[in-house]
Amino acid sequence: MKIINSSATLQEFVAYQHQHQLRVGFIPTMGALHEGHLELIRQSIQSGNQVHICSIFVNPKQFNDAKDLEKYPRPIEADIQKLESVGCSVLFLPDYEQIYPENWQRFPFQFANLDTTMEGLHRTGHFEGVAQVVYRLLQICTPDQIFMGQKDFQQVAIVRSLMKQAHLEQKIELVRVPTVRELDGLAMSSRNIRLSAEGRKRAVFISKTLFWLQANYKNLTPNEAQNQSKTQLQAQGLDEIDYLEIIDAFSLQPVEKWEDALSVVVCVVVRIDGVRLLDNVILY
Ligand code: PAF
Repeated sequence: MKIINSSATLQEFVAYQHQHQLRVGFIPTMGALHEGHLELIRQSIQSGNQVHICSIFVNPKQFNDAKDLEKYPRPIEADIQKLESVGCSVLFLPDYEQIYPENWQRFPFQFANLDTTMEGLHRTGHFEGVAQVVYRLLQICTPDQIFMGQKDFQQVAIVRSLMKQAHLEQKIELVRVPTVRELDGLAMSSRNIRLSAEGRKRAVFISKTLFWLQANYKNLTPNEAQNQSKTQLQAQGLDEIDYLEIIDAFSLQPVEKWEDALSVVVCVVVRIDGVRLLDNVILY
């Protein structure tokens, strides 16, 4: 696997691949890689790309809490080994100046209400930071496909919107890859290692509740489904619920009647041991 630190070198490298009719898949990450990330690379391979580029850049602009940024794990040697083991072709490992050079200018994205609910409410400025870095990475990497995990459902919606606003959706396909789970159902996340043994046991009830909802929502109104899911979480001692929202998959706004939306998702964030755990399932 090649390791490229410079944006200009990566741009030249990708231009060369495209001149030779090779397709490029791109997987943006902040490192601390787990099976969920590796699955994105496997998907790039299975989708017929010949070159797979993974970026690792811990983007300060998307953290609204300086301590969270400081605590963010950076196990680069282990990450390199994992990427090599799944057949990643290039690791793009830029420093801050490569991503945000002096002449860098933010793109004036407008997300209507996509960024004012859920994570947008709880992490001010987070999606502005995500959007700017993903846009910059797409400009540098110019892939044919970008692969992102469904676990960050709202993030994928933001990236879809930014690609539309920047007229990139004709050139680059956004592929949303289903969430990879531990054997007991917990969604894989770089944050899971921060859970205590007792917290890890309780965390399983997040996905259990979502799967229960998937099986039973048809007998309930959205409001009942939301209340009963919260009650189930609380009954298992998971009472720090940042939100549990039943939303239209396109507008990300809460649904009042099932028949009002073509596709509905339930998104949840629960705090355990001070760790924010995100999960979601698509109901239909
Ligand atoms: O999901 C992440 O790891 C980050 O938000 C991303 C998309 C790499 C942007 O920094």
